[in-house]
Amino acid sequence: MFVYRGRVAHNTLYEQFAEAYARHSEHSPANAYYDRPAILALAGDVSGRRVLDLGCAAGVLSEQLVARGATVTGVDREPRMVELARARLGDRARFEVAELSEPLDMVPTAGVDLVVASLVLHYLPDWHGLLTELGRCLVPGGELVFSVHHPAADWQGQGRPDYLSTELVSETWPVGGQDVEVSFYRRPLSAVFEQLHRAGFVVDTVDEPRPLPELSRLSPDAYAELSTKPVFLFVKAFAVARP
Ligand SMILES: C[S@@+](CC[C@H](N)C(=O)[O-])C[C@H]1O[C@@H](n2cnc3c(N)ncnc32)[C@H](O)[C@@H]1O
Repeated sequence: MFVYRGRVAHNTLYEQFAEAYARHSEHSPANAYYDRPAILALAGDVSGRRVLDLGCAAGVLSEQLVARGATVTGVDREPRMVELARARLGDRARFEVAELSEPLDMVPTAGVDLVVASLVLHYLPDWHGLLTELGRCLVPGGELVFSVHHPAADWQGQGRPDYLSTELVSETWPVGGQDVEVSFYRRPLSAVFEQLHRAGFVVDTVDEPRPLPELSRLSPDAYAELSTKPVFLFVKAFAVARP
């Protein structure tokens, strides 16, 4: 069983406002024009690949992976999110309720070629248990593609005195016309890469992309923000072959 030094952040946003978050995420500039396009670009050609989608929420990214020919298993800790994902994709993908701080027993050893984790890892205090488990789930040489809040954004936004610490912080986000408090772990850049290295992942790409160009027409303010500030950090890493 994994041992975490801190508690896994639990957010009412994804539990009680699942529908509102699903609607928001489907069209929001940060999700639809920045995060998902960047994740899909790093994932590359997924046709025929077995993909595990961590923190799949209502399955918007999963649906785009399925449309590109992937066989997708999505997992999320929130049962309502999993219901929404199942309603969205029917039998075109498999969705399970799973807590990422616990073993992913529904995934056989070497059962997936690619893991995507869009905007979920910052809810975990320590990644070692999960990354070790992903090393089991992935085929040797398999890929992990993820996005997290950019460490510079969280540090600056939170105005915290100690950049180098990893700490649980909170923000208020406007979702579906209401303000919802969300808690997550703010961590320095070095902690992101130390955890990958310690769990046997080799980094292939670090990306700080601009949003899709069409956002400049649809939402000039959001385009300006996402084009000029560090908002999310994107990483692609390989699971090294087990001995
Ligand atoms: C920002 S959303 C992810 C967006 C999603 N990837 C998409 O493309 O729409 C974060 C999701 O991670 C899930 N989550 C957060 N912490 C989790 C944990 N410890 N285990 C499993 N799922 C978690 C939440 O329930 C939520 O659905």
